[in-house]
Amino acid sequence: MILQAEHITKAYGEKQVLGDITLHLNEGELVCLLGVSGVGKTTLFNVLSGLTLPDSGKILLNDRDITGKSGELSYMLQKDLLLEHKTVLDNVALPLILSGKKKADARQHAAQYFERFGLSGTEKKYPSQLSGGMRQRAALLRTYMCGNQVALLDEPFSALDTLTRSSIQEWYLSIMEEIKLSTIFITHDIDEAILLSDRIYIMGGSPAVIVSEFAIEEERPRNHDFVLTDSFIRYKREIRALLS
Ligand SMILES: Nc1ncnc2c1ncn2[C@@H]1O[C@H](COP(=O)(O)OP(=O)(O)OP(=O)(O)O)[C@@H](O)[C@H]1O
Ligand SMILES: [Mg+2]
Repeated sequence: MILQAEHITKAYGEKQVLGDITLHLNEGELVCLLGVSGVGKTTLFNVLSGLTLPDSGKILLNDRDITGKSGELSYMLQKDLLLEHKTVLDNVALPLILSGKKKADARQHAAQYFERFGLSGTEKKYPSQLSGGMRQRAALLRTYMCGNQVALLDEPFSALDTLTRSSIQEWYLSIMEEIKLSTIFITHDIDEAILLSDRIYIMGGSPAVIVSEFAIEEERPRNHDFVLTDSFIRYKREIRALLS
């Protein structure tokens, strides 16, 4: 177990957002956190990443208490927040610069990943010149450059149109085969959760709790053909029943 969150609760004023949330992430695993809009998914990520303190509970990374400590996990926010006045390369290299690397070294290191992330030729462009899918890949690469053992990705593909989204999901499945980064991934798209996950936590209720945990036992490597199989439909039917 690489990451554990134990008995996390969080209220904003009178509103209890997170009930009593316990979850974990195993090494190399991709876990989706699935729940309707407003349930508290981003709030949970803000707590896991140390941006927000929980009211109670603790977070352990490799059994070390990291509750309230930021910078321990790589966190891609719900809005990609690429800096518009910086080039794509400088955006991606930013975490390395913030961690103390010299600018030239940071750029050189970051540039090595552009091809794998489908970003060749965008190094000197500005974010506004990229398509939505490219922006998200750049934001993912920047998150990866943070270099932590665990990544938290908050709805990284939700703003994309269906076709772009399918192709970025396929790409993501293949890059995950290479980098095997332990990841928690927020989505409210059931298909996306089934396609990508090793396990799914379903979050629901107010205050929010984990209402159920679901293993997707389909072998990897996976691609979009999985979506068309009987087993995919069976998973989907079961998960829809749990969400309703
Ligand atoms: N900083 C804050 N101050 C007060 N209330 C907040 C704050 N952040 C979130 N909330 C409230 O907490 C609840 C959960 O919000 P959160 O953003 O975590 O939901 P979510 O599951 O990520 O939703 P979405 O799928 O739309 O992104 C909402 O009712 C929201 O209004
Ligand atoms: Mg959110």
